Amino acid sequence: MNHPAMQGLSLNAPSYVKNARLIAWVADMAALCKPDTVYWCDGSEEEYQRLCQQLVDAGTLTRLNPAKRPNSFLACSDPSDVARVEDRTYICSSKKEDAGPTNNWVAPDEMRATLQPLFDGCMRGRTMYVVPFSMGPLGSPIAHIGVELSDSPYVAINMKIMTRMGKAVFDVLGVNGQFVPCVHTVGAPLAAGEKGVKWPCNKTKYIVHYPETREIWSYGSGYGGNALLGKKCFALRIASNMGRDEGWLAEHMLILGVTNPQGKKYHVAAAFPSACGKTNFSMLVPPAGFEGWTVTTIGDDIAWIKPGADGKLYAINPEAGYFGVAPGTNMLTNPNCLRSLDRDVIFTNVGLTDDGDVWWEGMEQDAPGKALPAHLIDWQGKDWTPQIAKETGAKAAHPNSRFTVAATNNPALDPAWNDPAGVPLDAFIFGGRRSDTVPLVTEGRNWVEGVYMAATMGSETTAAITGQVGVVRRDPFAMLAFAGYNMADYFQHWLNVGKKLEASGAKLPKIFTANWFRKGADGKFVWPGYGENMRVLKWMIDRIEGQGKGQEHFTGISPAYEDLNWTGLDFSAQQFDSVISMDRSAWAKELALHEELFKQLEHHLPEELTQTKAAIEKRLAA
Ligand code: OXD
Ligand code: MN
Repeated sequence: MNHPAMQGLSLNAPSYVKNARLIAWVADMAALCKPDTVYWCDGSEEEYQRLCQQLVDAGTLTRLNPAKRPNSFLACSDPSDVARVEDRTYICSSKKEDAGPTNNWVAPDEMRATLQPLFDGCMRGRTMYVVPFSMGPLGSPIAHIGVELSDSPYVAINMKIMTRMGKAVFDVLGVNGQFVPCVHTVGAPLAAGEKGVKWPCNKTKYIVHYPETREIWSYGSGYGGNALLGKKCFALRIASNMGRDEGWLAEHMLILGVTNPQGKKYHVAAAFPSACGKTNFSMLVPPAGFEGWTVTTIGDDIAWIKPGADGKLYAINPEAGYFGVAPGTNMLTNPNCLRSLDRDVIFTNVGLTDDGDVWWEGMEQDAPGKALPAHLIDWQGKDWTPQIAKETGAKAAHPNSRFTVAATNNPALDPAWNDPAGVPLDAFIFGGRRSDTVPLVTEGRNWVEGVYMAATMGSETTAAITGQVGVVRRDPFAMLAFAGYNMADYFQHWLNVGKKLEASGAKLPKIFTANWFRKGADGKFVWPGYGENMRVLKWMIDRIEGQGKGQEHFTGISPAYEDLNWTGLDFSAQQFDSVISMDRSAWAKELALHEELFKQLEHHLPEELTQTKAAIEKRLAA
């Protein structure tokens, strides 16, 4: 089928693509974007290698030394295109109140009128890649399908790793199956004969979601969540809308399995803001004192959670790979992750060593006296030496530099990670990055108190988004940037899910908050973190089993020093006090900030949350 406006451009749809809506949409988009050719990805290994070689030839990728890092590549982006652009991200629902005060909103008609001329001819001189993908195991009742049209072959190869991408998706889609249409352009059409740059992008950027029609339109960026549309755009912003309408949850959560020495297994989903160690926690190695315990990874960033017929909540990881932050990853902070990166990786914006390998800040911190590389080429293509770094502060790797790697590379991968049925959840953890005020761990006494703690979470911002780093902002459920509808309605949805499960007689997952980031008077982190977080996880499991002791305080329940297992760690009661203590005057200020959030979200704010706040204030004053 050819669109009247395609002017001789062939759609090249393979004969096995039978979905009429898909074919018509690709024809419409090709007519609008005017690429030179349309290419349908089949997801094969041969295709992956061919596209990687094409990107090497174009200068976008550098092939790493195969003796050191087999089948791996480095991409370095334009310095203006290094992170998600939250201020350019829009939720275009028909009514402004449905996007809510925490999202940028523009009326759909107005946004379409803005985007139409930008997309008209935006792919001239380039290929439009048709990228079919499944979020979640193919055919799982929890999974959903998307198709991304992109003029970036870098996007196509990343989507191959990050999703179940390829031909088999068309079988699941069939003739009438539903998919989320995602269109992406770097916004850099080429004139006839123009060669183009290694990282095309545009100063103008729009990351646009139409929640009612379940569409995603992304313009001007080739980086991460701006461009790999299955991740934040679909799996969180659009899927949260699907979840609200259909009674399930799309969350910014890792999922892990933890098995005790008796072989009993628990599943935990944990939400932390970007670049707060979710990947590390999902691949945690139990420390000394926890012999016989294992932790296995189901997912490191996103969870789709649906109630099962037995009243339990079942979670899948909709992704198939990890797009993790590289700096700080080493054999101490995350050995499983480092081993996952031995081969088959796409690195973006890290340093290139003189022997054709990669390097990032923090790689040297896993062994005392380990040397820094004497010289390398930094992510911006400049010479880097320890001396230059000292004098100018230049970083070898951008603080938001990333690796893209298949989940199957992870030595701690959970055997059920690909189970279409998902895994039953025993607990949720919500964590922010707070140098003070918030204790190491707190358990909500009930679902509503847990929802309150998650809703009022604050966190210091990180390099995963453009803007100021280290400022405390409220980040409810770690979903501030990802809830695709009104945040107050999102709180209500969580309360509704809890009520429904409770009414069915089910045992609800417990809800905890955690903060690994309290700092001492010297400005250093007090809690050792990483593998030692197992001590906190074990306390949570004790609580799930009704065995762990805890002390009630004004926001919930926290352990005393003797309630945690300290075998193998030298951590004094005094040190523990400095990460668990709650300062009344700091909490009075904290509650004033909760009030500010509630004021911002007052339209539709659930009454239960205001009541919970009043109860906390009363206990605080007592
Ligand atoms: C991510 C993020 O990339 O949260 O996962 O920014
Ligand atoms: Mn994330």
